[in-house]
Amino acid sequence: MTSELCSILGCDIPLISAPLGGATGPEMTAAVSEAGGFGTIPLWRGGVEFVREGIAKVQALSPRNFAVNLNMEFTGRDEILACADAGVHAVSLFWGLKPEMIETAKSAGLVVLVSVGNAREAKIAADAGADLIVAQGWEAGGHVWGQVTTMGLIPAVVDAVSVPVVAAGGISDGRAMAAALMLGASGVWVGTRFLASKEATIHPEYRQKILDASETDTHWAAELYDGNWRKAPHRALWNDTASTWENEGSQPSGKRPGEGDIIGHQANGDPVLRYQSYTPAPGATGDIGAMSLWAGQGVSQVKKVQCSAEIVREIYDDAMECIRNGAARAG
Ligand SMILES: Cc1cc2nc3c(=O)[nH]c(=O)nc-3n(C[C@H](O)[C@H](O)[C@H](O)COP(=O)(O)O)c2cc1C
Repeated sequence: MTSELCSILGCDIPLISAPLGGATGPEMTAAVSEAGGFGTIPLWRGGVEFVREGIAKVQALSPRNFAVNLNMEFTGRDEILACADAGVHAVSLFWGLKPEMIETAKSAGLVVLVSVGNAREAKIAADAGADLIVAQGWEAGGHVWGQVTTMGLIPAVVDAVSVPVVAAGGISDGRAMAAALMLGASGVWVGTRFLASKEATIHPEYRQKILDASETDTHWAAELYDGNWRKAPHRALWNDTASTWENEGSQPSGKRPGEGDIIGHQANGDPVLRYQSYTPAPGATGDIGAMSLWAGQGVSQVKKVQCSAEIVREIYDDAMECIRNGAARAG
């Protein structure tokens, strides 16, 4: 299946690996693009030099197109221009809606993807020049911008804009991809499923919890895990941190039980505090299960560890089979 989305991105399969802060490294991005999908890499946490280095690492692994993911709250013109200077094909902008950043990226010659949570935002982004709209449903893992479910969001966004729409949130297998295409999406943006990829840079205990989790094992909070990114709603696996916080009245930052406790350490020795927004990485120590274990409601479809390339192929082949013959039960 080729589509307008594939020709805009220069890929063969309309499946984009979602940027997963702390979990997506250059290996995952390159592997997805090499498999015919479209890889993204989040590079918004370390300034312009970090952007340049991250891009060079992906380019050293694959000549195929990919997108750099930038958070509109923490990055701006300099990061966008660094992407254009390095010859990157696309940027994916998320968290906030800044038409001026979309316009800067377009003027610099980049293909622009913008993540939104409702149809009104989609229209603003498209009017500012976005080439593709990523509509992120509330089921999604990690930081979640809107509060509309994927099922309600995709048709509303598709009807609001004339550019292709990419469906995100709860898409973990071929059946969900087929459903998103039926709702009018031109492609899908898959996050939680790639946490179980061999390339994901996450702690083995976190990966195992993803494999073991069911659809009822995640929770959405307006503000729980923070640190230097405040008031940013998110979805993660239930754990002791979240249930104790909720049982004790869901108090705001500054009044939460055990706030400031050191619950572990990163591989470089830096402490991990309770309620810190931190994706547990290999080499982290301590109470991994009490950390921010980002995951979406599609986690119940994540059952095995695979190479990223296999995940791309399997979801796509199963989706095409569903469209031809109807959906089957999983596995
Ligand atoms: C571990 C993790 C980290 C994430 N980090 C980012 C990020 O840095 N930038 C971004 O745009 N979205 C981020 N997200 C959201 C994903 O890009 C995507 O919207 C979401 O995973 C899609 O829903 P799904 O998890 O149900 O597939 C993250 C999600 C997860 C699970």
